[in-house]
Amino acid sequence: MYKKIHLDAPNVGELEKIYLNMAIDSGYVSSAGPCVCRLEEKCAGYLRTVKAVATGSGTSALHVALHELGIGKGDEVIVPALTFVATVNPVVYAGATPVFVDVDIQTWNMDPCAVEEAVTDKTRAIIPVHLYGNPCDMDEISRIAEKYGLCVIEDAAESLGARYKGAFTGTLGDLGCFSFNGNKTITTGGGGMVTGKDLQRLNHIEFLINQARDGQGCHPEIGFNYRMTNLQAAVGLAQFERLEEFLARKKAFNKAYRDALGDIAGIRFQEEYRGAESSCWFTCIIAGDAAARRQWQAVLKESGVPTRRIFPPVSELPPYRGCRFIDRGNSRYIYERGICLPCSTLNSPEDIEYVCGVLRESQIKLFRRSAAPRSTGILMPL
Ligand SMILES: Cc1ncc(COP(=O)(O)O)c(C=O)c1O
Repeated sequence: MYKKIHLDAPNVGELEKIYLNMAIDSGYVSSAGPCVCRLEEKCAGYLRTVKAVATGSGTSALHVALHELGIGKGDEVIVPALTFVATVNPVVYAGATPVFVDVDIQTWNMDPCAVEEAVTDKTRAIIPVHLYGNPCDMDEISRIAEKYGLCVIEDAAESLGARYKGAFTGTLGDLGCFSFNGNKTITTGGGGMVTGKDLQRLNHIEFLINQARDGQGCHPEIGFNYRMTNLQAAVGLAQFERLEEFLARKKAFNKAYRDALGDIAGIRFQEEYRGAESSCWFTCIIAGDAAARRQWQAVLKESGVPTRRIFPPVSELPPYRGCRFIDRGNSRYIYERGICLPCSTLNSPEDIEYVCGVLRESQIKLFRRSAAPRSTGILMPL
């Protein structure tokens, strides 16, 4: 058996241990201590934005962003159906109603035409999700937001380092939210970040997530305990120093997968919008039809290669069935056929070559090419 291949395991090592030990030795384990501010400054500097506020998770970042923008009962928030459930739950925490829209079949991101169709007089915000690191069509989404007077909260949980027309995702809307969960491009164990253009708003978010402390022993508003800890931030500082290396590695994996698998009938990759540059957090493929997807996954598993399915459409999960959904059938199509390939930066280029080799060999063993042209090619079980 080939050595262990990692799907999305974190790459945490010696530098993180050094920084974590320094934080422990300093005695600051909770929210006080210098690491949180240093991580916020690093993040804001990297993203070229006015301020970044560290949070305990990407989910809490999204919740406080909605709260800050005054979104609540009676409001509708437009979300993509194809995303992780954590994009949508905070809408409900805020007391608002999610309205689902389908994704574009090429990019797998929120379809701007469906967004415009979803707008009602109750709509207050749009949450574009840069799925698997691939930037949304932010020009179109911003145009719709401006036309109808809506807020834009970017869910950039998966897209640290991705750019749209030169600007980093997470800096293009009113507020942007990142995740530093264990499987993300960089991790703090668990953590998140809110960014944006409006300093006053970000200062208020900083105040809110720290129990709305005013520094005089008073709490003039109902706040949250959504702070990141000094220990988490210490790990984050080490990870930030390695961000460029991680991004380069993930982009190289993406290229290797495309080069090796691009000519296999039925395999299609997530495409980028013009002007977008994905961070390639995950490389995912559409693998023929649902039966072919199951077979690919089984063959890969037998060869020691872990994979994962695409997120199930949130609109189909029990709490969200019955919500309004501008459905074109694409989220389900991608879910049925999609496979996430190993993307952890613990993998070497040789590991990815091995994965590609397994896919190419199993294509020969398990499938014959259909006569259909590549764009519509379906893998046919023999
Ligand atoms: C698209 C998306 N949104 C939100 C989140 C929530 O982030 P967290 O797990 O840090 O709460 C995640 C990741 O988990 C995610 O993938």
